Amino acid sequence: MGLHLLGLSNIILTDIAPVMPALKRNLKRNKPVLGKTLKTSQLYWNNSNQIKTLNPPFDFVIAADVVYIEESVGSLVGAMEELVADDGVVLLGYQVRAKEAHEKFWELCEKVFLIEKVPHEDLHVEYAFEEADVYVMRKKMIK
Ligand SMILES: C[S@@+](CC[C@H](N)C(=O)[O-])C[C@H]1O[C@@H](n2cnc3c(N)ncnc32)[C@H](O)[C@@H]1O
Repeated sequence: MGLHLLGLSNIILTDIAPVMPALKRNLKRNKPVLGKTLKTSQLYWNNSNQIKTLNPPFDFVIAADVVYIEESVGSLVGAMEELVADDGVVLLGYQVRAKEAHEKFWELCEKVFLIEKVPHEDLHVEYAFEEADVYVMRKKMIK
C-alpha cells in the first residue's frame, strides 16, 4: 500500500485463500488514504497458473516475514524468480523464524539472486528492529 502512495502503479497484493478476506478488509479500511482500492489476487507460491495469471514480470516483488516453513521455501524462491523482471528487484523484509527454513532459503536464493543487505543505519528509525533485516535481491544473469 505504501508503494502506491509513493507513485507506483500496477500493484497487486497477494496471499493464500484464507487470508484474502483480511487482506481485502485491510485495503478497504485504508481506501480513504489510498484514494482507490488496489488489486488483489490469490497466490500460493507453488501454483504456477496463479503466478501466470498475475502477468509477470514485475519491476518490484516485495515480501515480508515469509520464510518460516521449510517445505514452502523452494516454491517461494521459485515464485520470486518467476515474478521479478530480469532487471527488477526483490525487496525482502526478513527475520529468522526457523533454522531449517532459514538455511534452505538462503542456499536457494544464493543460486538465483545477487543479495545485498541494507545496513540498519539506512533504515527508517521507526522501522529498524535489531532482529529484522531488509534485503535487496537482483537476478544473477547467467550467460
Ligand atoms: C508471517 S506472515 C507475514 C505477513 C505480512 N507480510 C507481514 O509482514 O505482516 C506470512 C505470510 O506468508 C503467507 N504465506 C505462507 N505460506 C504461503 C504460501 N505457500 N503461498 C503464499 N503465501 C504464503 C501467509 O499467508 C502470510 O500472509
